[in-house]
Amino acid sequence: MSRVTAASLKERKRAGDKIVMLTAYDYPSARLMDEAGIDVILIGDSIGTTVFGRPDTLSVTMDEMVHHVKLVSRAVRQALVVADMPFLSYQVNPEEALRNAGRFVAEGGAHAVKLEGPAARFGGAIAAILDAGIPVMGHIGFTPQSIHQIGGYKVQGREEDARERLKDEARGLEDAGCFAVVLELLPALVAQEITTMLSIPTIGIGAGAACDGQVLVMHDMLGLGLDTRFVKTYTNLRETMKAAFEAYRRDVKEGLFPAKEHEFQ
Ligand code: KIV
Repeated sequence: MSRVTAASLKERKRAGDKIVMLTAYDYPSARLMDEAGIDVILIGDSIGTTVFGRPDTLSVTMDEMVHHVKLVSRAVRQALVVADMPFLSYQVNPEEALRNAGRFVAEGGAHAVKLEGPAARFGGAIAAILDAGIPVMGHIGFTPQSIHQIGGYKVQGREEDARERLKDEARGLEDAGCFAVVLELLPALVAQEITTMLSIPTIGIGAGAACDGQVLVMHDMLGLGLDTRFVKTYTNLRETMKAAFEAYRRDVKEGLFPAKEHEFQ
């Protein structure tokens, strides 16, 4: 299998070949995803909640992200590695946006970056990053970095004006040069309309089956994170891991581990 590139994803849309994306934050998980044929691996700022145990993504820093981007890049042979730009890493001005995106590529080994919000607000940042040769993935709909403005985890684009605004934003990101756009928490019909309208791929999360691809947060699909309507739990690692920890505790307490076969003679 050849390396997945930002450019090749557009071809995948044309061919009707679904794009499969997951988040990863560490070497072993990224290695397994790559071996399993996952197309795009995102080091999401969702690390703030899933791994760091924080209430939201807003306090995730560039240094924290770069560290985890390095771990994932080291593991990946085939997939496209996308680094998520954390809060305030691209909003202040295009120069800072470029410097931070550049760190993900030069220090972290990422192939592309993702940022939240419309081109009407961040077109300057997107242009500066693209000018340096770094592909940019957009992200609209529910954008977790604006949680305080949005007022909670809410489906976006239910009303007519919001639906039209989302379509404008999607078009704007395509015009700005993004190679793909994440659609988060949208009614399936709205995501379908946007997907049909764009020539770049849409990657849905809680946005229905019509999107050109899907993304899930690894911890959610493994039963270690959110259990909500749009997530499919493929295995319940929470139960498996807890049972293993309890069995180990029991074995040590009862003198069953280590056994003879674990000892050196
Ligand atoms: O941070 C993240 O994991 C994301 C995905 C949910 C798309 O942005």
